Amino acid sequence: MAHIYPPLNIEVRTPRLTLAGASDDLLARLVPLVRAGVADAEPWPFDDPSSLYADNPEREWRWLRGIWSGRGRVSPESWRLYFAVLVDGEPVGMQDLIGKDFARFGTVTSFSWLAPGGRGRGLGAEMRAAILHLAFAGLGAREAGSDAFVDNEASNRISRGLGYEPNGTDWDTRRGEPARIQQWRLTREMWELRRREDIELTGVDECLPVLGLPAAAAESRR
Ligand SMILES: CC(C)(COP(=O)(O)OP(=O)(O)OC[C@H]1O[C@@H](n2cnc3c(N)ncnc32)[C@H](O)[C@@H]1OP(=O)(O)O)[C@@H](O)C(=O)NCCC(=O)NCCS
Repeated sequence: MAHIYPPLNIEVRTPRLTLAGASDDLLARLVPLVRAGVADAEPWPFDDPSSLYADNPEREWRWLRGIWSGRGRVSPESWRLYFAVLVDGEPVGMQDLIGKDFARFGTVTSFSWLAPGGRGRGLGAEMRAAILHLAFAGLGAREAGSDAFVDNEASNRISRGLGYEPNGTDWDTRRGEPARIQQWRLTREMWELRRREDIELTGVDECLPVLGLPAAAAESRR
């Protein structure tokens, strides 16, 4: 059944997986993965509830509240779309797309995680390719950014493999300790070189007004 809120109806389908708008039903099905722990080993990929509060329901409560509050703050200046990653209908992780002043700049960033048991089989690269297809082919993005701690081999290799170029470094903290961040940038031109024809989008046009995007502008940039 279609949701009344358009972002929850977006689907991105590749031959290997589907990104589906993270409805509360899907979040409930992801809870066991969050409960079991997402950031399970060093080097820590990020600091967030999924890596802290082990053996405490606070972990999943904070994770849920983070997503609900992100959903509630959607405006043309700042939005985040949350997707469950489904393989054979089973949720295995999340892939988010973030837009800041997207109507003006056409830039997005992304964030993702997979349950530890689902990693290292190419799903991470596939779900990034899927979210890039939504950004560039669906929303008409001009540029996508990504960043990860320098020792996050999987994330950094995905960025490089999909054509992103290094775009400087920054600092962030994890578990209170400063650590170096690698930043990446993928231009529309570089994405076009690898554009895939086997990724399908649904529900995108209905979502444009929610994000403050004129349909004509997205259309002209696709
Ligand atoms: C980041 C993440 C989503 C990547 O997904 P994945 O399915 O494990 O990655 P893939 O299997 O698609 O592999 C992508 C590349 O990284 C490499 N790779 C994967 N895991 C690796 C590891 N532990 N060490 C070194 N390289 C690794 C793969 O060989 C592949 O490289 P190639 O394209 O050059 O051959 C997943 O590892 C994850 O959830 N990690 C924890 C959360 C996280 O780091 N999120 C991102 C925060 S910035």
